[in-house]
Amino acid sequence: MKRTVAILGGGVIGGGWAARFALMGWNVRVFDPGAGAEAAVRAMLERARAALPALYDVALPDEGRLTFHDTISAAVAGAEWIQESAPERLALKRKLYQQVQAVCDPAAIIGSSTSGFTPSELQGCATRPEQIIVAHPFNPVYLLPLVELVGSQKTDPALLDRATDLMTGIGMNPLKIRKEMPAHVADRFLEAVWREALWLVRDGVATTQEIDDAIRMGFGLRWGQMGLFETYRLAGGPAGMKHFIAQFGPALDWPWTKLMDVPELTEDLIDKIAAQSDAQSGHMSIAELESLRDGNLTAMMRSLKARGVAVGKILKDHEKTIEPEVPDLMAPMVTLDRQVPVDWVDGNGHMNESRYVQAMSEASDRFLAWIGCTPDYIATRGSWFTVENHVRYLAEVMIGDRLTATTQVLEAKGKKLKLFYRIECNGTLAATVEQLLIHVSMATRRAEAPPEDMAALTQAIAEAHACHGVPDAAGATGRT
Ligand SMILES: NC(=O)c1ccc[n+]([C@@H]2O[C@H](COP(=O)([O-])OP(=O)(O)OC[C@H]3O[C@@H](n4cnc5c(N)ncnc54)[C@H](O)[C@@H]3O)[C@@H](O)[C@H]2O)c1
Repeated sequence: MKRTVAILGGGVIGGGWAARFALMGWNVRVFDPGAGAEAAVRAMLERARAALPALYDVALPDEGRLTFHDTISAAVAGAEWIQESAPERLALKRKLYQQVQAVCDPAAIIGSSTSGFTPSELQGCATRPEQIIVAHPFNPVYLLPLVELVGSQKTDPALLDRATDLMTGIGMNPLKIRKEMPAHVADRFLEAVWREALWLVRDGVATTQEIDDAIRMGFGLRWGQMGLFETYRLAGGPAGMKHFIAQFGPALDWPWTKLMDVPELTEDLIDKIAAQSDAQSGHMSIAELESLRDGNLTAMMRSLKARGVAVGKILKDHEKTIEPEVPDLMAPMVTLDRQVPVDWVDGNGHMNESRYVQAMSEASDRFLAWIGCTPDYIATRGSWFTVENHVRYLAEVMIGDRLTATTQVLEAKGKKLKLFYRIECNGTLAATVEQLLIHVSMATRRAEAPPEDMAALTQAIAEAHACHGVPDAAGATGRT
């Protein structure tokens, strides 16, 4: 049965939460008194559909139902998680919690997206303060996994554990903050960088574009994969962190920052920033910039995923929890079900020819794992190497399209395994691939018969698949 979340406030952040939960298979009930909120949340979900599933190499759960409600009680009914993303005003949030707590399940968790308020401030006049925690995400919530979870003295650690599990389940990376503090952890960094940037623009040292370049061409790239301390450890050379501090520690006394001061936001300064920002980015609409951002983020996150580090590790770990179960192998089976990511496209604006083979290769890896060729087996014993592929390209495939592959075993004899794939795009046959594999010993890296149990299984599958006939396009590989 689908789980239910209530989203209170469907703006930039609430809409992002709604999209992530829905794409992770939750039913989503939204309450937002603002005119136009429903259209905005639906538009956000549409954008998220093109981005979040593309981070995964498996299909996400079936999308949950997104509904909009005129009353708080209708929205929170049956919800096990209630995410408040109303405007950053304490009195408004506190009033909302009183209304929510009068009708919600006392066992539900109420998370607040607040950027700055502490849980104690939020819990101020609540009926059940222990039910409310901070669950602070980052925009776009449907792509970025960080969520800061903060409780107060009144928060039961078991509730924070439950929140951690639930957030992990929808692909988030929960960071439990040890002590409550205004702006939690991550926004304190952003605040520091923001203040410094305002000074630099005000004093004419750099424009908005130059400041953005200073970030994205340099330290922003370092931060995205190693953070601050690991990066500085490297800056200290082989002598590490102590040497780094010895070298740059004295700079703390030099005028390297104006952080203790805040520039006055005069009309002049605001006009200067707005004009520079228009000159920098005014040629693109917000929707175009959002789509540029989402494409860039998915491409960067996918490259870290291939390496299994930083945000890529979170994606890999989450993906393992939504891997498909082993199907009936005795009939041709679905071995791939995924969305086409942005980095699979080429200059023709469609999926590059090599990616058809990549899709087949992912399908092949899954089938081989199902017959026992697991990472353990490969590490200790043997594997199947491809020696020939015959691909027929039959239809164009675009970014965001859903690809499925069905695998049929044509032959399993001795060291040889012949597989046939039908790759469909949104239900239309887009390619067929015939693949010839040879079993090898990983000790000698030479051809060798598979172990008896694997050979018996592949032979039984080939015999069972034979009644489905030989596809017309088959017969192109392994003729010699
Ligand atoms: N924008 C960001 O980058 C960001 C990042 C992290 C956290 N946050 C936090 O998320 C929260 C929401 O910020 P946002 O940027 O989405 O704001 P927003 O202005 O985009 O959206 C707020 C939404 O709340 C609705 N609303 C107003 N009163 C309401 C009520 N009583 N009940 C339910 N909904 C109500 C509004 O109609 C609006 O759609 C804030 O607490 C903010 O600090 C924002």
